[in-house]
Amino acid sequence: MAPTLRSFLGTRAPAAEVTGGAAPGAPDAPHVAAADDRAADDRAAAEERAVAPAPALVVARGLVKRFGRFTAVDGVSFEIARGECFGFLGPNGAGKTSTMRMIACMSPVSGGTLRVLGMDPAIDGTKIRARLGLVPQEDSLDLELTVLDNLVVYARYFDVPRADARRRAADLLEFAQLSERAHDRVEPLSGGMKRRLTIARALMSQPDLMILDEPTTGLDPQARHLLWDRLYRLKQDGVTLVVTTHYMEEAEQLCDRLVIMDHGRIAAHGTPRELVERYVTREVVELRFATAHDQAAALPLGELARRVEVLPDRMLLYADDGEQILAEAERRGWSPVSGLVRRATLEDVFLRLTGRSLVD
Ligand SMILES: Nc1ncnc2c1ncn2[C@@H]1O[C@H](COP(=O)(O)OP(=O)(O)OP(=O)(O)O)[C@@H](O)[C@H]1O
Ligand SMILES: [Mg+2]
Repeated sequence: MAPTLRSFLGTRAPAAEVTGGAAPGAPDAPHVAAADDRAADDRAAAEERAVAPAPALVVARGLVKRFGRFTAVDGVSFEIARGECFGFLGPNGAGKTSTMRMIACMSPVSGGTLRVLGMDPAIDGTKIRARLGLVPQEDSLDLELTVLDNLVVYARYFDVPRADARRRAADLLEFAQLSERAHDRVEPLSGGMKRRLTIARALMSQPDLMILDEPTTGLDPQARHLLWDRLYRLKQDGVTLVVTTHYMEEAEQLCDRLVIMDHGRIAAHGTPRELVERYVTREVVELRFATAHDQAAALPLGELARRVEVLPDRMLLYADDGEQILAEAERRGWSPVSGLVRRATLEDVFLRLTGRSLVD
């Protein structure tokens, strides 16, 4: 039976009323990075959906982060509701960590408004931080301490009595599947174990909001799936999660709603399904040809599809019925080296919005 965190997490205080910030659709709505008018209309619709369905724990309006003359976050607006898993999906340098650090009150806001748990980070940073669980992009565990002591020592920052801290740590090590390593030093743990320990540590303070910056980057698929499972259980237990990632699969698996970020701006908002429905078709046919010449010759196949993307190594045909297109390609005598039909993903949405691939 999977351990539940409900008893351990206890009853969290209701969120304070959110104050300040402009109404949705106010003039400081986010900048956008899409290419055509239809996408702009779609974004307006997406913007409406970016308003959280329940009282918001985080409200950002036209949020900006500058480093000198460089603008890393360029006027983003979003709301994160209690109990949801909200994602920031984007490639390297999109501005995800810069946004997370502002929410975590680790980096001052350069412009716009931000309210976290109903408070202003510029005024109430200490109060806000006390109610956040932070999993930074780089693990910051104490490598010299044991697994257990990493949790117990961390709890001191939150004035948790020692006996409570040990009890909580034992529960969390079970949750993180690290009980057997409790008395080992941290240094030799695998990357996935360190990530799980960092998450357990962030939970020691019974946070209202967990901020996870790239929780699974660098992990192998098995370790990633285990972490997804743990994060899913946290959400089931009512913890609000904010996750950044550049894995579209992670965003699809975990996030109730997400924003796609690129160059410091929000290109689109929505649930994973809404984004796919709005920007791409249900299916994608991927065709690979032996030579660029063969691929160029097959371009007329694009007539059969709603949209075509020609990438250096393959051609993508977007359609609601991929098998039909594949069959037609064969009937017309075009012979790709490989042809497959797959479900459209957030990767396709990103490609549509930015003209680039999400993964480097
Ligand atoms: N302290 C800083 N000083 C100057 N520039 C910075 C600083 N922190 C971030 N940047 C720049 O801001 C931009 C956004 O960086 P950020 O770390 O927010 O991106 P990211 O989306 O988290 O990327 P990644 O997926 O690589 O973690 C980058 O161009 C980065 O070089
Ligand atoms: Mg980052």
